[in-house]
Amino acid sequence: MSWNEQQGSEDKNIQQELLKNGNLPKHIAMIMDGNGRWAVKQNLNRIAGHREGIETVRDIVKACSQLGIKYLTLYAFSIENWKRPTSEVGGLMRLLEFYLRRELKELNENKVKMFSIGKVSSLPKSVQKLLHRAIDTTKDNDGLTLTLALSYSGRWDIVRAVQMLSLDVRRGKISPEDINEEFFAGYLQTNPLPDPDFVIRTSGEMRLSNFLLWENAYSEFYITEKYWPEFRRNELYKALAEFQHRERRFGKTSEQITNKEIEDQNTYLKRILNAINMS
Ligand code: FPP
Repeated sequence: MSWNEQQGSEDKNIQQELLKNGNLPKHIAMIMDGNGRWAVKQNLNRIAGHREGIETVRDIVKACSQLGIKYLTLYAFSIENWKRPTSEVGGLMRLLEFYLRRELKELNENKVKMFSIGKVSSLPKSVQKLLHRAIDTTKDNDGLTLTLALSYSGRWDIVRAVQMLSLDVRRGKISPEDINEEFFAGYLQTNPLPDPDFVIRTSGEMRLSNFLLWENAYSEFYITEKYWPEFRRNELYKALAEFQHRERRFGKTSEQITNKEIEDQNTYLKRILNAINMS
């Protein structure tokens, strides 16, 4: 059964409200934070937090796909995360393997196209193999593009792009005058993706943590106190309603927005929150 067929009617109604209102983001990027703190709060070990985090990944991917969001990028493992205790790194790698092994069939059946950014060559061979298989199997799909940022850092990708650009200058393929923002972005690993228009970070931290530094120049930010394992689809819906609310200014100043528009926005937010609370 496809994800759309599985969907309950209350959830469908909330999604229809969001869709009716328009202006959903095209590309959502997520900093999945707080697995460790969630686990400690439940008297569990950190890996149990990451395991529960996978359940959130599954729910969020499904909800984004059902809503017709085109791009979702998840910060799953940063270059800095290699400094964590070996046991935690090993546990995370095993969870990644588990996810890629268990989910590929369902992702493919639901037209998800897998992509990755980061220094994939530093991942264990077994993870690399599963990742390449997932990307290759889903390459012709036209649904949600799900990008996993793995062994990724924004500065690393920028430096990598500069190195490749310099090589092309040295080989005489391009001249320094050819370089502008768009041209440079073509050398980043995120080149096939549009810039994120919405970044969500869980667990209340107000940091970018080296995530898509170039690409997030104009993104809207949403920070929630919820830990990643708690950030299920209803939390996503609240974030999306907030995004729509911000977007609905359409570049106007707050003074230009009429009382009627403010009233409409507040009624809309209330309606979405009510629907979520009732579901
Ligand atoms: C941050 O929480 C989370 C991570 C470093 C890993 C995220 C990984 C997953 C959700 C599971 C695997 C992902 C996929 C895409 C299958 P933290 O450990 O830094 O939490 P803390 O700040 O509370 O310690």
